[in-house]
Amino acid sequence: MSKFFAKLTSTKPSMYSKSLFLNILGMQWYRILFFYLIRKVKASVTIKPEYKEYLKILERDGVIVIPNFLSEADYKEVLDEYQTLTPSFVRTNHNLLPRVDGISMYDKRVLEKNRNLFLKSDLIRSLVSSYLNRYYNLQLPIDYNRIYCNQEDLDKPRNGGTNNLHFDAPLRIVKIFYYLTDTTQENGALRYCKGSHKRNNLKRLLFEYKLSIRYSLNKWNKDNKGEYGDDEPWVTITSLEQRKYNLNEESIEAKGNSLVIFDVGGFHRRGDNNTLISRDSIQLNYRSIDTLRNYLFPFEKRIRSTIKSSK
Ligand SMILES: [Fe+2]
Repeated sequence: MSKFFAKLTSTKPSMYSKSLFLNILGMQWYRILFFYLIRKVKASVTIKPEYKEYLKILERDGVIVIPNFLSEADYKEVLDEYQTLTPSFVRTNHNLLPRVDGISMYDKRVLEKNRNLFLKSDLIRSLVSSYLNRYYNLQLPIDYNRIYCNQEDLDKPRNGGTNNLHFDAPLRIVKIFYYLTDTTQENGALRYCKGSHKRNNLKRLLFEYKLSIRYSLNKWNKDNKGEYGDDEPWVTITSLEQRKYNLNEESIEAKGNSLVIFDVGGFHRRGDNNTLISRDSIQLNYRSIDTLRNYLFPFEKRIRSTIKSSK
């Protein structure tokens, strides 16, 4: 039963359909339209006046940096908590360079003491809910993430799908990085193509159509079954395409204690890190916002409490 619930809470629509036939029929467009419409259905979220300017920037660029998110005292506490857990970090992908270590978003030890600084943040809830036109009802997945190189990794070729330009899904979904330490172009700051979250133009729609066909053709190639692994559903964007579709990568640099909120429906990639300075962050993931369980969660909570009180 718990596996069933886990599936309902973690499944998000992937970037492209695997079916070549459906993609030729324009499946990518139907998916974009479908998710656009279901987000429009319930326009009941309003932004608090003090965050309106943030929402404007997020709508315009698809990404926003909010410095000094926590008070100095809270920032120190969060840092201390992070450091006590670093010895128990695990590698998330053994083949990846730079390396990525962390603790899973489902592990209760992540921000055990200070989780509410993020979960109960008025700024985060108001801004993200307004941008997505949805409330996130489930427990928000939060993970620790550390990207780094060892001495022997320096100057080796980088690999892994997330190093390549991609978007995560054909709709608005938000991810938040809280940078624990100063993050620059040199130590792997997020790279984002500002404005690339906007899909309401023919040029972009035709581009995604083309990419969806390329993706399924790759999947049908029995030699490699796709350019990347199964959990990395993307295709390589050529530099010519980057120019043609105005995909200008920008390094989203920020000081420690900054919040970076970005729409993963826009093109982005992980920055390269070829230094001995790690990129340390806390990541909040809204990918389950369109799952059935998120919609039904208020009912689930009511049923659970009824059962509890009748015991
Ligand atoms: Fe991504």
